[in-house]
Amino acid sequence: MDRHHQVPSSSVQVLSVASEMFPFVKTGGLGDVVGSLPVALRAEGVAVATLLPGYPAVLDALEGPVRVAEMTPLPGVEVALLEGTAAGHRLLVVDSPALFRRKGNPYLGPDGVDWPDNGVRFATLSRVAATIAQGHVAACRPDLVLAHDWQAGLTAAYLHYDGQPAAPVVHTIHNLAFQGRFPARDLERFGLPPHAFAMDGVEYHGDIGFLKAGLHFATWITTVSPTYAREIQKPEWGMGLDGLLRSRSDRLVGILNGIDTDDWNPATDPAVLFPYQVGDFRARRPNKRAFQAEFGLRQDPDVFLLGLVSRLTGQKGVDILADVVPRILDDRTQLVVVGSGEAAMEQTFARLSRRFSDRLACHIGYSEQLGHRLQASADSLLIPSRFEPCGLTQLCASRYGCVPIASRVGGLADTIIDANAAAMSCDAATGFLFFPTDPDTLVAAIERGGAMFRDPQRWSHLQRNGAHYDVSWRHKAREYAQLFRRVLGRNDAAASGAEKDIILSRRGAHGRRPWPPGPPGADMPSRTGRLARQAARRSRVRAHDPFVRSH
Ligand code: ADP
Ligand code: GLC
Repeated sequence: MDRHHQVPSSSVQVLSVASEMFPFVKTGGLGDVVGSLPVALRAEGVAVATLLPGYPAVLDALEGPVRVAEMTPLPGVEVALLEGTAAGHRLLVVDSPALFRRKGNPYLGPDGVDWPDNGVRFATLSRVAATIAQGHVAACRPDLVLAHDWQAGLTAAYLHYDGQPAAPVVHTIHNLAFQGRFPARDLERFGLPPHAFAMDGVEYHGDIGFLKAGLHFATWITTVSPTYAREIQKPEWGMGLDGLLRSRSDRLVGILNGIDTDDWNPATDPAVLFPYQVGDFRARRPNKRAFQAEFGLRQDPDVFLLGLVSRLTGQKGVDILADVVPRILDDRTQLVVVGSGEAAMEQTFARLSRRFSDRLACHIGYSEQLGHRLQASADSLLIPSRFEPCGLTQLCASRYGCVPIASRVGGLADTIIDANAAAMSCDAATGFLFFPTDPDTLVAAIERGGAMFRDPQRWSHLQRNGAHYDVSWRHKAREYAQLFRRVLGRNDAAASGAEKDIILSRRGAHGRRPWPPGPPGADMPSRTGRLARQAARRSRVRAHDPFVRSH
């Protein structure tokens, strides 16, 4: 029996509510986290079912769907709630052809503009989540709801205004830059009462704020790194929500993301042309050569090959990178960019790759396969983010022996140890950090990286230290599980008396019921589940990424 079967007796049943999930729909790290955290939580005695919108890719992937409820979550909106498994995950799917059966990007139309009914679409998702949290759907009665980002933000607000007993909500901020603001006139359309439009309600600068509502009403708030949890309580990083977050600081915690180390394993990764074991980094050489050839660059092992895998947006500081390209590229330095996002940025990099065709190559677009291959081939990964809630690419990079060069913000500061004198002398460094994020600091960090790269022995220490860093979900999932038990008052040692009072008053009336009530083994802790997930991942990678970007 797989060890993941050994679920502790005090198991917690969680409904995770999200707008994307790898391997079905992904526009960025949110999808990765929503897809990989449930697997790790299982080992901590937490069983997760994930509530997703019924996008075509989700419906297509759903095995053995059963219609478990029909609802009218918002005025004039009819949905069917389907339950089934997909790629080893237990899913609940909000099927509404009118709202969700649209191909492509989950948030944007083919014109690259937000779908005009995004408010109704994600209010529907949240309303269904709230109804489940209240125990009205016999097929699933969670102990706790984990709501991700603005798209699930209204969940806690609906529960508040309904005033019925319900499971508590932990709201996770993946990115404060996406807040889900909609005009006040939509209040009734969203099924909210008139008095909800207040400062201590869903009102946000004259609009309705989905994320604001979630942060205001959630029982607890998490975000994806300890540094980001501190940063967002300051006006310069809080994007208008710092005051609210400060007022809730006793209920706000940062828990770092992990990555799926089965998916990110250079020995078995189908995108890696010459597989190698984590830590055996000499074996990366043929990958670098093949990657240089694939991108039409000179095949030279001594060139410092930089890589970028990123959304091309202001958050990621890629405009700063574009500005310094003429300063960093020379005979001994090349850059490969795999990215998509803002049209102007895409054009800038395409233009630069024409101008510096022997030193800079681009794949403008979203390619899971190239993203993996780049990590196995480039010497250093550039992450010049202006802010970064956590960031996943530096974790993948460390595991693959691609040394990160990143700005010292958010989760990057928490997951990279700068190669300063102290870290080098005690052999702890894993990369290069710079701050503030500006052209000169970026260039200086790349120069530091280049100098170290030309000292192969010291470079190999950076790679080895990175490989020793546990980037998996193991410890982080434990932190989530501990928080869930604390919120539910099941962790007597951790919960203070006052906390328990609040927690108990918010616990549902529906008590514990078997969860999920699916077919035997369908709570997917098994090897079968893992194999199914791997197969799904492979077919995604081979299928050359139907994923689309941006939110
Ligand atoms: P964010 O969620 O802000 O975009 P993260 O670093 O948390 O940043 O996650 C980004 C994820 O998306 C990673 O898995 C990364 O490899 C992937 N990614 C981003 N852009 C691309 C791209 N153009 N092609 C392939 N993968 C990409
Ligand atoms: C967001 C953030 C990124 C984080 C990801 C997953 O998109 O920008 O930093 O890693 O969510 O939590």
